[in-house]
Amino acid sequence: MTATLHLGQTLSFSDDPFHAGIDAARHHRNGGIVVENGKIAAVGSADELKREGLAEVDHGDKLIVAGFVDAHVHYPQTAMIASWGKRLIDWLNTYTFPEESRFKDRAYADDIAGRYLDILLANGTTTVCSYCTIHPESVDAFFTAAEARGMRVLAGKTCMDRNAPDTLRDTAQSAYDDSKRLLQHWHGRGRASYVITPRFSPTSTPEQLQALGDLWAEHPDCLMQTHLSEQVDEIAWVKSLFPKARDYLDTYEAFGLLGTNGLYGHAIYLEPREHARLSEVDAALVHCPTSNTFIGSGLFDMGGLKRAGMRVGLATDTGGGSSFSMLRTMAAAYEVGQLKDRPLHPAELLWLATQGSARSLRLDDTIGNLAPGLEADFVVLDLASTPAISQRSERADDIWEALFPTIMMGDDRAIAATYVAGAKAGA
Ligand code: GUN
Ligand code: ZN
Repeated sequence: MTATLHLGQTLSFSDDPFHAGIDAARHHRNGGIVVENGKIAAVGSADELKREGLAEVDHGDKLIVAGFVDAHVHYPQTAMIASWGKRLIDWLNTYTFPEESRFKDRAYADDIAGRYLDILLANGTTTVCSYCTIHPESVDAFFTAAEARGMRVLAGKTCMDRNAPDTLRDTAQSAYDDSKRLLQHWHGRGRASYVITPRFSPTSTPEQLQALGDLWAEHPDCLMQTHLSEQVDEIAWVKSLFPKARDYLDTYEAFGLLGTNGLYGHAIYLEPREHARLSEVDAALVHCPTSNTFIGSGLFDMGGLKRAGMRVGLATDTGGGSSFSMLRTMAAAYEVGQLKDRPLHPAELLWLATQGSARSLRLDDTIGNLAPGLEADFVVLDLASTPAISQRSERADDIWEALFPTIMMGDDRAIAATYVAGAKAGA
C-alpha cells in the first residue's frame, strides 16, 4: 500500500499535560502525518516529511488530531437519548430497560449498531467502549457493524440477573457461559476487544458477580467495565442490597471485580477507602460529564483524581449522556471543572478525549495520539465551522485560543473528515 502524507496543522502529545504541563503538546502550524498500511509512519513539519512519490492530501489550515476515544457508552440507548425528567433508577426503569429489551431481535440490533457507529464517525469518534444488552445478539451486532467499518471497538454483554424486567434478566450461569463464548469469539479478532460487563451491583446477585469475577480471573487481559457511585440514591440502594459491604466498591472487590484492568464509570462519590484501593490497583475511572449533569448525578473530581495519579478516561455515556459528540463532552468537562474550581486547559481536554481515554482502556500504545507506530485513526477539525466559532477563532493568538471555541461550541460540523486505520470514513 502506498504511503500518504496528510498536510495540515497537527497537534499531538509527548506526555500527559495534567502532569507535564501544556509543553507536553506538540503543535505544527505547517505539519503533516505520513500514513502507511493503516498506521502512522511519521509526524512532523511538512517540509521534513515531503518527498518525491509520496501521495499528498492537503487539509489546508485544518487541524489534524487523533480520533476521539469514548471510554463508556451504551450503544443500545441510541434511540432513547434525550429522554426527559428522570433520575438514574427511574430513568433506567422508564426509558432504558424497555428499549434494551428490543435487542433480542438481531435485525433491530444490527440497525441501531450501524446507525450508532455512523453517528460516531460523523462526530470524529473512532473508538468506543460500549455496553451491549443482556442479549448475545446485541454483542454480535455491534462487533459485526464495527468490523464492517474497520473500527477499533471494545464491548461486552451487559449482565443482569435481578432488579430488571423478565425480558432483561439472565442468570449467573448463563451470564458466565454467554460472556465466555462471546469473549472467545470476539476478543482479539481484528480490532475487537471483549469487555466483561456486569451492569452494576444492584442488577447482579452475588452469585452473578462471583461468576463474572471468576471469568475475569480466567481472562485477566480483558477489561472489566461497570458503574460505581454515580448517584446518591443508587449508593443507598447498594448499601441496602449488600449490608455487609464496606462501601460500593466492596460489592465488586468481594467478588473478584476490582483489578488493574477494571474500568469504573462515574465514580463521583468515592469514600477514602475506595479511592485508596482504586489507586492501589491502578484501576481506571471514567468521567461522563454530560450524563452526570443530564441525569442530575453530581460533579466528578477531575482535579483531585488526576493529582492522585489515577488513570481517567472521558466518555459520553450515551444515552444517559445527552450528546454523541466528544467535543460537546469536552465542553461539559470544562464546565464541571469550573464548578469544581479546576478549569481544564484545552490541552487537558483534548488529551482526555484521546490519549487519556486510550490509557483508561489500556490502548495508549495503539491509538489516541499522532505518533509513529500507532494506528492511523485521526480526525481533521475545521476550527471555523460556524460563523460564531469562526469570528472567535479568527482573533486567536495561539493554537489553544483557536481550538477552544470549537471545543466549547463545536459539533459534527467541525469534523471535516474522520480516518479509520488510514481510510476516510464514508468515502
Ligand atoms: N447505571 C447502571 N446502568 C446505567 C446506565 O445505563 N446508564 C447510566 N448512566 N448509569 C447506569
Ligand atoms: Zn453507563
